[in-house]
Amino acid sequence: MHVNTLILGAGAAGMMAAAHAGPATLVIDHAKAPGEKIRISGGGRCNFTNLACAPDRFISKNPHFAKSALSRYTQHDFIALVASHRIAYHEKKLGQLFCDGSAKQIVQMLRDEMARAGADLWLDTTVGEIRHDGTFRVTLTRDGRSHVVTATHLVLATGAKSIPAMGATDLAYRIAAQFGLGLITPRPGLVPFTFANDRFKPLAGTALPSRATTGGHSFEEATLFTHRGLSGPAILQASSYWTEGEAITLDLSPDAPLADALIAAKRNEGRKSLTTILSRHLPARLVQYLSPDWPTDPMAALPDATLRDLAESLHHWQLTPSGTEGYRTAEVTLGGIDTAALNARTLEAKTVPGLYAIGEAVDVTGWLGGYNFQWAWSSGWAAGTAIAAAS
Ligand code: FDA
Repeated sequence: MHVNTLILGAGAAGMMAAAHAGPATLVIDHAKAPGEKIRISGGGRCNFTNLACAPDRFISKNPHFAKSALSRYTQHDFIALVASHRIAYHEKKLGQLFCDGSAKQIVQMLRDEMARAGADLWLDTTVGEIRHDGTFRVTLTRDGRSHVVTATHLVLATGAKSIPAMGATDLAYRIAAQFGLGLITPRPGLVPFTFANDRFKPLAGTALPSRATTGGHSFEEATLFTHRGLSGPAILQASSYWTEGEAITLDLSPDAPLADALIAAKRNEGRKSLTTILSRHLPARLVQYLSPDWPTDPMAALPDATLRDLAESLHHWQLTPSGTEGYRTAEVTLGGIDTAALNARTLEAKTVPGLYAIGEAVDVTGWLGGYNFQWAWSSGWAAGTAIAAAS
């Protein structure tokens, strides 16, 4: 069997590419359904893009690489596609767009777009040997039967290593290595931190507004204490900039200077305790957890300098995670196929004509908030339209 384009992976990027790659396109996936990560994303409502999408919201060894695809297929292009399928959506916060209904609508939209383009979809299909002699010869196994499919264009869209329980594999990395493309060491991103001795277990379930800073980047959003450590959007965002052994700094009251509040309370409510006053500004469980380290005298007896130091420690709480929860729960994988090996406009390998890599498999990782899907749409579109133009 010969096709013009064989796309490995029917996820966000692969389906988008298939919708634009032109005739004789086959998409294969080892899963039983396409777009499984889309289906479960955004709590089942899919945060499909972000109004504020811009290249500085992506992490890559080459921060310029994503610019071309992101500027030629933008968040507004994808929003127009969603609207044309009459899928209702809303902005939740910070430019994040979610479906009003189910994320399955986005999967169905992409299936419809693929069908309209005439692309075939083989599910439950595994990839075996790949050979290349000008055309690609790929051995596929479907329903227990082996097929050799030849293709002029081969697109790597099998994503990365996050959530192996959902079928994530390193297939794209292995094929890239076979063809001599470089790899930036992958690591889990948008992932909760773990801490030694389950130190935050007593606080599990407590959430508060915060600012998390690490690796020169700060994110002001909620932090959530978990049985194993820290999670919540501020922490997940910070995790993508964290390197092992480094501390993170948590500001537990980013919007209100606690020193002012404590000194005012000392003047006006001198008989009250620190814990009483701070419980107005921080979750009571967190105050209880931290209070063994604090003076027990009434506010009036505490020097201003002590109150200022205490406030400072709550605005700059230094914590060193022992690690992260890893690929088991990481929303994305940082690193991946080195962008130096790819043409930024077409996502085609510079040294292997006809070979493309798109989506999360590539060393481009977005912030939390719809950015990773936008990279999947933009890179999928860029590769798909380049293939159609070349065919
Ligand atoms: P994706 O993982 O979507 O697709 C890869 C496909 O390849 C899968 O269908 C897989 O089955 C298939 N495959 C893998 N290995 C294979 C093999 N060996 N053989 C055959 N097929 C194989 N992003 C965002 O912007 N907004 C959000 O709301 C969320 N929410 C979210 C929640 C959760 C729980 C996770 C884990 C991730 C998110 N993300 C997200 C991230 C987003 O899901 C991710 O960045 C994109 O799905 C990446 O798209 P790709 O097409 O590159 O990979």
